[in-house]
Amino acid sequence: MTDPSGAAVRRLPFCELHVHIEGTLEPATIFALARATGLPLPYASERDLAEAYRFADLQSFLNLYYENMRVLQTEEDFFELGAAYLRRAHAGGTVHAEMFVDPQAHSKRGIAESVVLAGLHRAIETVGRETGITASIIVCILRDDPVIEAERMLDRVLESGFAITGLGLDSAEVGYPPSLFRSVFGRARDAGLRVVAHAGEEGPADYVWQALDVLGVERIDHGNRALEDPALVARLARDGVPLTMCPFSNVRLRVIPDLASFPLREALDAGLHVTINSDDPAYFGGYLDDNLRALTAAFSLTSDDLRELAVNSVRASFVDADRRRQLISLA
Ligand code: ADE
Ligand code: ZN
Repeated sequence: MTDPSGAAVRRLPFCELHVHIEGTLEPATIFALARATGLPLPYASERDLAEAYRFADLQSFLNLYYENMRVLQTEEDFFELGAAYLRRAHAGGTVHAEMFVDPQAHSKRGIAESVVLAGLHRAIETVGRETGITASIIVCILRDDPVIEAERMLDRVLESGFAITGLGLDSAEVGYPPSLFRSVFGRARDAGLRVVAHAGEEGPADYVWQALDVLGVERIDHGNRALEDPALVARLARDGVPLTMCPFSNVRLRVIPDLASFPLREALDAGLHVTINSDDPAYFGGYLDDNLRALTAAFSLTSDDLRELAVNSVRASFVDADRRRQLISLA
């Protein structure tokens, strides 16, 4: 399908299930916030900063991602961040977003979980009223920090009383297997949270097995390297476990050499429940609709292909039964 304007994408009910809210922090906002608070930045201009967005791997991206998010300091900053993202997502046709946030990256800078969650909740309510978009929050564990910090983060989030949908696992993957977090994920499941984990982005297929069998996750974030293991592919297909895949991210973090190498057909043909997502759109060249438009061009996707991806995103989401029915009826 040739659809450079993306009208087909905008007509379908796409859910964004893999977006790090701190990864929506645009260069202009970084400069505006740094100027407002007097925080020095090691870049002369937005252009200079954007020039640094050439990554060799996940770690080289994470270094910049954590450094830039220091400009986020107040509840209002998190409100503005969340509201700007949700308005942009709505403009691109996204009907529902499950937003990852990294509370430990903020608490270690002295910003409480309750400050972060208050700002994001206000953004969800405000932009939801304005546009009809729905959204929820998944707090992620920084897997390269000590396990005790993850336990404390979960305690404080639960004590804060702010509603969250789930618990996730992100940051540097290799060397930090999911099994380290068995206990904290067990507590989250007992508390009624939905659970997901980044696995198989840079780490081996074995980390995907661990995420499923040790953490009991309901979705795998990325999961590219699962395709190396036929028994794992069969398991994911049999159980209908969604993979929240991220094409632009994979290219920018050199998980794959170019967009044409994104394993979309391979994964769909294997019967996997693939969803398309943006990961860190301010860093990787675009939002969900941009990813979908580029895939449409690269893989000559038909309107049936796009519809399948939209339906997959709704089915993989954690919305309630009424919203699910409503969204499916739009597909
Ligand atoms: N945090 C933000 N983006 C991430 C990614 N792509 N992988 C792991 N952790 C992340
Ligand atoms: Zn991610």
